Amino acid sequence: MLVSLRELLQEAKRGRYAIGAFNFSNLETLRAIILAAQRRSAPVIIQTSQTAIKYAGLEYIVAMARVAGEQAGVPVVLHLDHGTDLATIEACIKAGYSSVMIDASHHSFTENIRLTKEVVAMAHAHGVSVEAELGRLAGQEDEISVGEREAAFTDPAEARAFVEETGVDALAVAVGTAHGLYRGEPHLDFLRLQQIAELVSIPLVLHGASGVPDASIRQAIACGISKINIDTELRIAFYRAVKNFLDHHDTYDPRKFLSPAIDAMAELVEAKIDLFGSANKAVR
Ligand code: 13P
Repeated sequence: MLVSLRELLQEAKRGRYAIGAFNFSNLETLRAIILAAQRRSAPVIIQTSQTAIKYAGLEYIVAMARVAGEQAGVPVVLHLDHGTDLATIEACIKAGYSSVMIDASHHSFTENIRLTKEVVAMAHAHGVSVEAELGRLAGQEDEISVGEREAAFTDPAEARAFVEETGVDALAVAVGTAHGLYRGEPHLDFLRLQQIAELVSIPLVLHGASGVPDASIRQAIACGISKINIDTELRIAFYRAVKNFLDHHDTYDPRKFLSPAIDAMAELVEAKIDLFGSANKAVR
């Protein structure tokens, strides 16, 4: 069974660890994440962007995720990452996603609240949890592009008001991370993160965690982060394994060159689970 984000994240917040949210877009990337979660006995969030849904098809995604949820033996959340389109969010809720994100962070504060409230009402009526975002990350957010100059960190007082107004279950914050590859070393605003965590009672989410040093990840968790999104690093591990295999073998059998990619990605997901402290937390 697929489980909702809410209880898992509240448990993580209490236990001061974070649950990994890993992006997938096909059978191979899903298998890698589930294998890793099983090996580490970890609850896991499998998430798709809107473009991943366009790529693989909503029904295929949900069917694969349902099988994963039934067979994994660990709690599995199927989450929509960066939902910007209400029709897609509604379709995900109706199709069987157990959690959705509404990302209206590029709108005004008032409009972000209005859209988030709309999604909360719709999702909660189906027992589906909701993540929202306040503040903007630099970099490439799937179909949303925000220049680094435009990026705005989350304001702690606004975060409190936003959470109280919207009734959202988890809040993504902008504290210095960016989606995609970093040009230099990212510097996180831990003081701001701590202030937000003091004012906001719900679990906080860190996006753009690929390339963030392990020490900063540990500190972010200590400051109150309960969900950590990783995508780019997984794609790179997958790509490198396929490339390395095909550089040394001449084969047209996808099973031959995709199997090492599943193994490489699973190994990386396992390492992230250990870093986040969620290994052996899969009690159902
Ligand atoms: P990265 O691609 O930087 O890991 O970010 C993933 C993410 O935040 C997805 O929402």
